[in-house]
Amino acid sequence: MPPITQTPEWHALEAHFEELRDQHLRDLFAADPERGQRLTIEVAGSVPERRTGSVPERQTGIYLDYSKNRITDETVELLVALAHRAGLRDRIDAMFRGEKINVTENRAVLHVALRAPEGAVIDVDGENVVPAVHAVLLKMADFADRVRAGSWTGHTGAPVRNVVNIGIGGSDLGPSMAYEALRDFSRRDLTFRFVSNIDGNDFWEAVHGLDPAETLFVVSSKTFTTLETLTNARSAREWLLAGLTDVDESTVAKHFVAVSTNAAEVAKFGIDTENMFEFWDWVGGRYSYDSAIGLSLMVAIGPDRFGEMLAGFRSIDEHFRTTAFEENLPVLLGLIGIWYDDFFGAETLAVLPYNQYLARFPAYLQQLDMESNGKSVDRDGHPVTMSTGPIVWGQPGTNGQHAFYQLVHLGTKLIPCDFIGFVHANHELGDHHDLLMANLFAQTEALAFGKTREAVEAEGVPAFQVPHRTFPGNRPTNTILAERLTPFTLGQLVAIYEHKVFTQGAIWNIDSFDQWGVELGKSLANRIVPQLQLEVSSALDHDSSTNALIRRYRRLRA
Ligand code: F6P
Repeated sequence: MPPITQTPEWHALEAHFEELRDQHLRDLFAADPERGQRLTIEVAGSVPERRTGSVPERQTGIYLDYSKNRITDETVELLVALAHRAGLRDRIDAMFRGEKINVTENRAVLHVALRAPEGAVIDVDGENVVPAVHAVLLKMADFADRVRAGSWTGHTGAPVRNVVNIGIGGSDLGPSMAYEALRDFSRRDLTFRFVSNIDGNDFWEAVHGLDPAETLFVVSSKTFTTLETLTNARSAREWLLAGLTDVDESTVAKHFVAVSTNAAEVAKFGIDTENMFEFWDWVGGRYSYDSAIGLSLMVAIGPDRFGEMLAGFRSIDEHFRTTAFEENLPVLLGLIGIWYDDFFGAETLAVLPYNQYLARFPAYLQQLDMESNGKSVDRDGHPVTMSTGPIVWGQPGTNGQHAFYQLVHLGTKLIPCDFIGFVHANHELGDHHDLLMANLFAQTEALAFGKTREAVEAEGVPAFQVPHRTFPGNRPTNTILAERLTPFTLGQLVAIYEHKVFTQGAIWNIDSFDQWGVELGKSLANRIVPQLQLEVSSALDHDSSTNALIRRYRRLRA
């Protein structure tokens, strides 16, 4: 197949872009009174299963308003045609069938199997992986119940009250983001902390004030070879043993569990492999928090809520797999992103959750999107012929409004934004929630429609200020509106972005599931570590900048 940029579908979009580039959202809305209702999608929610017979709260769908984008019905048609030309349907089916679509690592990509219902069949190398997924979920639930019940005791016989997850990247961002997001559903009498950075400050703070006798470490690492995680895990072991008396071989086993694919390294560290929670090489790190990597989250919110979250993921998996692209929420988000990345030349995407509990969501999406689609060669190793993954960033509303929105409204750059909001507050407090949501709605309105020179002048603004106070508008946004932030909704939100990233990677024909870009820095750091400890004057063979920095560091440390 020719590169996607040489297909008639791509050329049709280029021509269409020339027609649309100067049209204003004001005019698009004025010409089409139904636009704000028509360019929307709702994915129905479904009632999740729970282990207990109790009735879950009512779940509703996720509503996407994509009308405030610089698109028309024709744009959607052309983008959908591009998706068909790129073979998106086959790629989706291949993923769900367990084919090895991670070509550079020769691996299947099956995070969808992590939330497949019991009884589903998804084969990898001729073996159905779903029973193993459910066996691990059961083992996790048993562990989580024991910790929550106070029956998992440590070296002194005291129950565990503090859970510290040690991991980095996908082994940290998912569980820590989701823990923050679902704090409201968590056991408030237990303490949960997350340590990731190799910077000792992170570990120092993570254990500050904790009693080793009541502390359990969950060492989360797919490979169990990651420098940061093993360094933090060794420090944790030292901290634990230094804080307890009469320690022996069994002490570590009582205070450490592991989540990994690598039993040999787990055993080498001294963790009882009975207390290891398994996952598999077909789960990418950044797609893993609904696997055993979510163990600390499951302890926090309990197995039932964790199950609801999986049901949320599953509802979007089904929607993504079965819905026509025109009505497919993750597909549309992906296509709209491509419209801005590749035709408007936008470089970034701001993700702006109007819920403080989602403060870590942009950071989570940074790894999900940028580690997946930050690629400049295609699946066959040829240079790509278009711009790939956007720079993802953001902060919760309304804080961002008082920081960077100036540039989004009046700067020279085009910054597409995803606004995420909820109809109901987690905690109704006076009129906080209406004020919060009024701001969300106002921002998308202001970005789209701006404020004309005439309107500013009509307010009697002094002439010299008029250009400064005129808002050009025509700044695109998506609004994702859900009813309430619950485990189910969080699962839906994450799955939406997972499949959006998938959609874009498929159209760009890149391998969204490898991450070779992190390797070079890692290996150079390993080379530099011993050099930092040598004599100030000992020879170095880096470039002149790196040599000078190392020498200065050595001199000041000596
Ligand atoms: O940053 C590279 C990376 O491999 C990520 O993809 C991964 O999530 C992270 O490191 C942690 O890896 P591990 O879980 O093997 O410790």
